[in-house]
Amino acid sequence: MSASLFDPFALGDLVLPNRVAMAPMTRSRAEPGGLPSRFAAQYYAQRAGAGLIVSEPNGVNRESQGYPRTPGLYTPEQIAAWKTVTDAVHAKGGRIFSQIWHTGRIGHAKGNPYGLEPVGPSAIAAKGKIFTDSGMLPFPEPKAMSADDIARTIADFAQAAANALKAGFDGIEIHGANGYLFDQFFCDAVNLRTDRYGGSMANRLRFLWDVLDAIKQAIPIGRVGVRLSPFGTYNDITHSDPKGLIEALIDGLDKAGVAYVHLIEPEVSGDREAKVTEALPPVRQWARARLSRPLIVVGGYDRARAQAVLGAGEADLIAFGRNYISNPDLAERLRRDLALTPPNRATFYTQGPEGYIDYPAAS
Ligand SMILES: Cc1cc2nc3c(=O)[nH]c(=O)nc-3n(C[C@H](O)[C@H](O)[C@H](O)COP(=O)(O)O)c2cc1C
Repeated sequence: MSASLFDPFALGDLVLPNRVAMAPMTRSRAEPGGLPSRFAAQYYAQRAGAGLIVSEPNGVNRESQGYPRTPGLYTPEQIAAWKTVTDAVHAKGGRIFSQIWHTGRIGHAKGNPYGLEPVGPSAIAAKGKIFTDSGMLPFPEPKAMSADDIARTIADFAQAAANALKAGFDGIEIHGANGYLFDQFFCDAVNLRTDRYGGSMANRLRFLWDVLDAIKQAIPIGRVGVRLSPFGTYNDITHSDPKGLIEALIDGLDKAGVAYVHLIEPEVSGDREAKVTEALPPVRQWARARLSRPLIVVGGYDRARAQAVLGAGEADLIAFGRNYISNPDLAERLRRDLALTPPNRATFYTQGPEGYIDYPAAS
């Protein structure tokens, strides 16, 4: 099944006009109360030409928010504020899923808006430092989640999924990548639990399966995507058996009938610059071979590589991160093969409209 970036794609019952997706990106511009930026409606509406927008991640509860100025989907005010964003995207003919996340041990009381300490599968601090309003601080040791904490967090994911649809999102994407809570549960070096959520691979994946089961009771599973990065090392995660992990995850997600799997390829990790390394594991092909559901891939793509991968039938959609920051009309620019504006890293996470809504579209 060979395709081009500019062919439509049926994502369940949603018809996408092209195969260009906007990757989820934290932009650290949320308003107090975990509301999306007052410029978010304009920012996302400018990018409505994407076949699919995946929004920046929304926290599912108070302790899920490890970084300052990130939004959430757990209060009526947040739902109402996001509705103005999704309305603006729909008015421009676009489609938008909300990424939802819990940062787990990647957090700091000085970054959490309620001053809450981070939690994680086990009391193991990540190596390195985290951005807070008091500067870069070492990751603290997280509190190991109790059985009750896990049960409540599962329910909070289901509620956030329901809230996302209430806020007008077309679906949700579970952030299972980049060293955040799900990836922490998956990882045998970070998850040392001795209960049913730790130990064997099957147990380490159980948190995701339980979240998906709960979400299924709240919204149609055909509106639920999952993002994964089995080879990522961002946020001090290294999986001992990344191939076994991706195979087990893909098999379970296929069986669950998710809307899509969004795979971060090993070319990049988190928001670091693309690395060009030799002999990268063929994770896209491994995923494709086992998955009957749609596959989105991301990681350092340009037009030519995107067309080659779609042409070879190795993915259904290609997501673009950094180039969507600086090219609001990226799908159209790719279609016309126009030059792209390079992104300015200095304004990735700054507050205000600069570097957010002021990149021009090609005339
Ligand atoms: C500023 C910035 C913020 C990001 N935040 C997130 C995030 O919150 N969630 C996520 O899954 N990925 C995040 N990413 C990763 C991107 O979604 C994407 O996977 C990565 O940039 C690689 O794609 P690219 O090479 O096209 O930029 C972020 C990337 C950037 C540049």
